[in-house]
Amino acid sequence: MTRLLLRGGEVITSNERYLADLLIVDGTIEAIGRPGQWGVDDADETVDADGCLLLPGGVDTHTHLEYVVASGKTRTADDFESGTIAAACGGTTTIVDFVRPPQGVGVYDAFQQRRAAAAASCVVDFGFHPIVPASAGDDDSFDQLVRLAREEGATSWKFFMAYPGSMVDDDVLIRGFRLAREHGVLPMVHAENGHMVADAIASLIEDERFEEHNHLFGHPASAEQEAVNRAIMLAEHAESPLFIVHVSASDAAEEIARHQARGVEVMAETCPQYLVTGYEDYRDLGFGAAGYICSPPIRERANQERLWRAVEQGTIATIGTDHAAFTLAQPEGLPPQKAVGRGHFPSVPNGVPGVEERLMVMYETGVMSGRLSIHEFVDLTATRPAQLFGLAPRKGSIAPGADADIVVWDPKASRTLGVDTLHSRSDYSLYEGMTVSGSPRLVFSRGELIARDGEPVEPRPGRGEYLPRQRFGTAASGWRAAHAAG
Ligand code: URP
Ligand code: ZN
Ligand code: ZN
Repeated sequence: MTRLLLRGGEVITSNERYLADLLIVDGTIEAIGRPGQWGVDDADETVDADGCLLLPGGVDTHTHLEYVVASGKTRTADDFESGTIAAACGGTTTIVDFVRPPQGVGVYDAFQQRRAAAAASCVVDFGFHPIVPASAGDDDSFDQLVRLAREEGATSWKFFMAYPGSMVDDDVLIRGFRLAREHGVLPMVHAENGHMVADAIASLIEDERFEEHNHLFGHPASAEQEAVNRAIMLAEHAESPLFIVHVSASDAAEEIARHQARGVEVMAETCPQYLVTGYEDYRDLGFGAAGYICSPPIRERANQERLWRAVEQGTIATIGTDHAAFTLAQPEGLPPQKAVGRGHFPSVPNGVPGVEERLMVMYETGVMSGRLSIHEFVDLTATRPAQLFGLAPRKGSIAPGADADIVVWDPKASRTLGVDTLHSRSDYSLYEGMTVSGSPRLVFSRGELIARDGEPVEPRPGRGEYLPRQRFGTAASGWRAAHAAG
């Protein structure tokens, strides 16, 4: 039995803050005591957290590590090892990634293969959202998905409404949402109308507008708004809850707020890149704009203010990253990265890095700017993602019985972000040069120190554990609680 004493910090949860000492036994929070309650003799090891905040380890329910893109032509730069080391260094101790079945492989088998690969390499705990194959209307994919929910606790399924070849039609959405409800699964949608996107891109190609920054105009806000509205109406029809990933357009966020106000159980995520960077940052970068290409796109600054309002007002439940890192330069040993689409935006692999920067960027632009309370910050980045995706009570909070996933956060530390000190294999950061106040001094995963001052501590690939997740709605939903409280 190992006993760790964490002394002198201030515990922050989604609704409380207080000075406390934490006693951690075999990786679990055994007890929360008043300051000084235990002495050094009560533990094998004592760690001093004076002047620091004790935050629940970050939960990022949207990453793409070792991710083969829809066309099958390439793969993200970060594998499970480099991506989870980056996560750990930034204070994220749980990720939920995706399983996209390769051509000819069923989703059940694809899940098992990916789970084994992650189990061999991850440095933090992990789960998976299976992606519903485009063929699901015609084959036995849904039987396999139900089996994954029941046997493996894979209790969220992702549906693409965009990307020809990956997207599913309304019939599959309705059927899938209904099955999801029956089996305690939370359906998630990438909500962009794939036909509108394909049409907008075709027009740009016809006009020979190939430069990278034109990606924005290939993904109009109206395509996102339409798909968000349709997905919500279809979920309501199927009497299913719904989660909308990576909301980028403020019009789409306002659509979500309108339906929530009617009492529809729809939850949503946005990502730091949509709140903090804008089209104006990449419009004039030439090929550099490829580093900002993700879908939905990073929109104009004017969109940002309204998206922030949706976060502040509680329309948005979680902040994930959609970390899908590619490099700008083409390193040896990696499949084609962003440069494969140089001068031709539709050929640039979609996705941006951010798993390591997430907490620091949100603390700086949310908490330090006064937009978010420290409790809202914790709620958006750890507590609610854990609750909505069936990871609570083990993850997302500091409470007796929870995993000792704890970030000792130094609110006085100042740091300038840049690729030189970040750990993703990506060769750029969207936040290069941004000075942030507050950063993770120590990061514990199940009581084990895995990062100190932004650097990994003796990383052990394979120490991360697979997380079977509870059925949706089993843990009290933070979203519901927040809304009930007004
Ligand atoms: O551009 C993005 N977001 N790439 C990752 C795959 C997805 O659509 O989430
Ligand atoms: Zn997506
Ligand atoms: Zn994604």
